[in-house]
Amino acid sequence: MSDVLITGVRPYGEGDPVDVLIVGGVIRRIGSDLQAEGAEIVDGNGQVLLPGFVDLHTHLREPGREDTETIESGSAAAALGGYTAVFAMANTSPVADTHVVTDHVWRRGQEVGLVDVYPVGAVTVGLAGAQLAEMGTMATAAGAVRMFSDDGHCVDDPLIMRRALEYARSLGVLIAQHAEEPRLTSGAVAHEGPTAARLGLAGWPRAAEESIVARDALLARDAGARVHICHASTAGTVELVKWAKAQGISITAEVTPHHLLLTDARLETYDAANKVNPPLREGSDTEALRQALAEGIVDCVATDHAPHAEQDKCCEFAAARPGMLGLETALSVVVETMVRPGLLDWRGVARVMSERPADIVGLDDQGRPIAEGEPANLVLVDPEATWTVAGDELASIASNTPYEEMTLPGRVTTTLLRGRITARDGVAAAPVGVRAGER
Ligand code: DOR
Ligand code: ZN
Repeated sequence: MSDVLITGVRPYGEGDPVDVLIVGGVIRRIGSDLQAEGAEIVDGNGQVLLPGFVDLHTHLREPGREDTETIESGSAAAALGGYTAVFAMANTSPVADTHVVTDHVWRRGQEVGLVDVYPVGAVTVGLAGAQLAEMGTMATAAGAVRMFSDDGHCVDDPLIMRRALEYARSLGVLIAQHAEEPRLTSGAVAHEGPTAARLGLAGWPRAAEESIVARDALLARDAGARVHICHASTAGTVELVKWAKAQGISITAEVTPHHLLLTDARLETYDAANKVNPPLREGSDTEALRQALAEGIVDCVATDHAPHAEQDKCCEFAAARPGMLGLETALSVVVETMVRPGLLDWRGVARVMSERPADIVGLDDQGRPIAEGEPANLVLVDPEATWTVAGDELASIASNTPYEEMTLPGRVTTTLLRGRITARDGVAAAPVGVRAGER
């Protein structure tokens, strides 16, 4: 691996531009006019340098739906989006409810080598909510699962959730809950409110999310465990998380880029690119989520990157699958919703996209300060650039983006994983460890 010299960058967007020399995957020196014979030069051009992003919520679809995404294509999308670590959700086929699947995801991610792919293990067998999966085996096997979630489904049985939290506590792992009381969302396809009523779409009430958030905060308190709330989508969830944190309960929460930017007003056209679970809410919710992220009540941004095949999205709204791509657009949506309105500066972006998520799952080589001696997991962002999203130009195999033809601000220009350039100027690097004859 060659040394890399990044010239003229502004760490956290602060101060005068500096040079950053990376040797052996580690930041060796930060200073001015650095020279390095034979090093690969990245012209920083006054851009913003941040720690590589960490996504706690990615659907990579391998094994099972490699027609929509693979660990390889999803890793390329992640690198292009500025990510150096992603957590691959367990709702694959087969479900990642055994170490056979979680170890495969881990090994395949390492083989591709564009981003550290951490497998998420299922909480219950087959995501069916009835019987706990072998969390201990998954946690101690090669893939060393550190986060468990039935995402896509809620662990709705309170006794099962209580047991899961108790086991998680003793194993030192995290439970991430998809908060959705299924008895309140049966048949629902859109946020319950005036828009859905007018459009004739079955409504998904805020209370379906909030009742589980409240319940799980109490269960986590009693178990002395940590709980993480996936894709917080309502103002009420913000209030509950704030309350629980004030009680000293170990609760953390993420928000998706789409819940920061988009509302149910997007449903007017019945375009299922906007169908997602939990659904796009109202302006009062996006506003509360932005404020909560700025204040640290909501801890971090997570993409819920959810690739789907064209036939599963380009169909009747009620029949379409929920979910949207997110890895390659996340930073730009955060710039649009948080940086431009002055809610976050670049240090704040580093906090919500890198430092906090790394901390929540205990990654000690991600979300680190930009300083000499630290691992070179870095992303370079052009804050002045704008770009127009085109689904079929994204690295993901699927192209279900809700941002089609939207012009967004801020662009990732270079990503480095342990000093290796994994994406540059819109092109992902080749996978590192592809076995001969495989491609
Ligand atoms: O919209 C969603 N899509 N929400 C989920 O919880 C699951 C995800 C998926 O797997 O497609
Ligand atoms: Zn979910």
